[in-house]
Order: sequence, then C-alpha cells, then structure tokens
Amino acid sequence: MASLGVNIDHIANVRQARRTVEPDPVSFALLAELGGADGITVHLREDRRHIQDRDVELLRATVRSRLNLEMAATPEMEAIALRIQPDMVTLVPEKRQEVTTEGGLDVAGQQAALTDLVGRLQGAGIGVSLFVDADTSQLEACRATGARWVELHTGAYAEAGWDSQPRELARLSEGSFIARSLGLRVNAGHGLTYQNVEPVAAIEGMEELNIGHTIVARALAVGLEAAVRQMKALIQNPRRDPLFGSRQP
Ligand code: PXP
Repeated sequence: MASLGVNIDHIANVRQARRTVEPDPVSFALLAELGGADGITVHLREDRRHIQDRDVELLRATVRSRLNLEMAATPEMEAIALRIQPDMVTLVPEKRQEVTTEGGLDVAGQQAALTDLVGRLQGAGIGVSLFVDADTSQLEACRATGARWVELHTGAYAEAGWDSQPRELARLSEGSFIARSLGLRVNAGHGLTYQNVEPVAAIEGMEELNIGHTIVARALAVGLEAAVRQMKALIQNPRRDPLFGSRQP
C-alpha cells in the first residue's frame, strides 16, 4: 500500500503572495500529519518563490513523520541538505521560468555528477530519490548513480486525455516494474488529483505518492486535515483498473 507525502509548497505560495507571515507552512505541516500524512514534502527553489530557508529549518525540527526536501542538484542546495539533514532528498530539474517542475531529471545526461552528489548525500545518511520520467534508459542511469529511490513523473499521465491516459498509466506501471527489477524503490508524483490518483496508487510496488496542489485546493473547502484524510483513503484502498494489472518482477 502506498503512503502519502503531502507537498505544502502551495501554503507558502499564499504567504509569499503578500510577503507576510501567514499562512505558515510549518503549522500546516502539523495539520497534514494529523490528517494522516506519512511525510511532508517541500521544494526549496533557487529563487525562493514559495518555501523559505526558515521553513525548512523549522520543519526539520517539528515534522514527526518524514521530511522530503525536493531540490535542484546545485552546490547551494547540497550544502543546505547536508546541514538540515532531511530524511529524503528528491533531486528535481529546475528552471527559473517554469510555473512548476517540468519533466523529469536527465539523469543519463549528468550521470557522473549525480553519482558523486548521491554518494555524498547518502554518505551523510540522507535517502536520495531521483525524479524521472518512466523511461528505461533514465531508470538504468538512476541505478548507476547508486540512488535507492526514484520518483516517477506522473505529469504526462495527469495531463493525458481519456484516450491516451491508459497508455500513460501503462508506462508508469512498466516503469515501476523496470525500476524494481533494477533494485530501485519507487515513488511517484506530480499532477495527481482526487480523480486520477487511484490507478497510480494501485500500481504494484508503489511506495509513496507525493501530492500537493489538489490537496491544498481541496483544503480551501474542507480544511487541510480533512483533505489529507480524503486523499489517504483513496490511496489506501484504490480502485484497480482491471485493464492495467501490473506485473511482478
Ligand atoms: N513531486 C515532485 C518531484 C514535484 O516537483 C511536485 C511539484 O512540486 C510534486 C510531486 C507535487 O505535484 P502536485 O503539486 O502537482 O501534486
């Protein structure tokens, strides 16, 4: 059964819209945990557009589940991760102009540098996950870096129309199979919603889903604790699409 990492960047987005002190993502992380979050995920972006350094520091001191720090593979972020010691670092690509993360990390294209970085982070006791498309060559490159986890990019699945969504789901399922065959542990995320999450949660071997936008959107109506509880219920008991049963490695 997959666990749920709640991404609280959007709480910080609201605060930064006014450059004020509320809403505080640190307090909302506690509410997410009360709702059953198995982990709290934040993306400390180079331009600090939402999550700030103080958020990460306070979250490290207060999160009682697991803290997953999404970050670009840069010297600045590496130094922060080594100092803060999150439970997990998820390495993501980052472009200044993007609204949100676009596409997976090109691990194959920077394998040597990533291998060194993964080694330093894991050597410091931090779990490392690489955010990648469900592509065989990228997954093989992930394996070669020594990272233990991958996070499969679910954006293409989330954005696909009804006619192509089954194909994208099958790619994720196949990606999970290949990753596990390579000895990698599998998370997934990006663009998942209350409407599309269940088939992904039902993929064999799926360990954790990282979900943000849809939960924070629903929280405006029902509160964060309830929104997390509702998402967790879907993930824990997902309807399985019989067309896309996944294979065991
Ligand atoms: N996983 C990764 C690597 C991400 O970059 C994001 C977006 O910050 C998410 C998961 C969560 O995506 P969403 O907000 O669309 O649920």
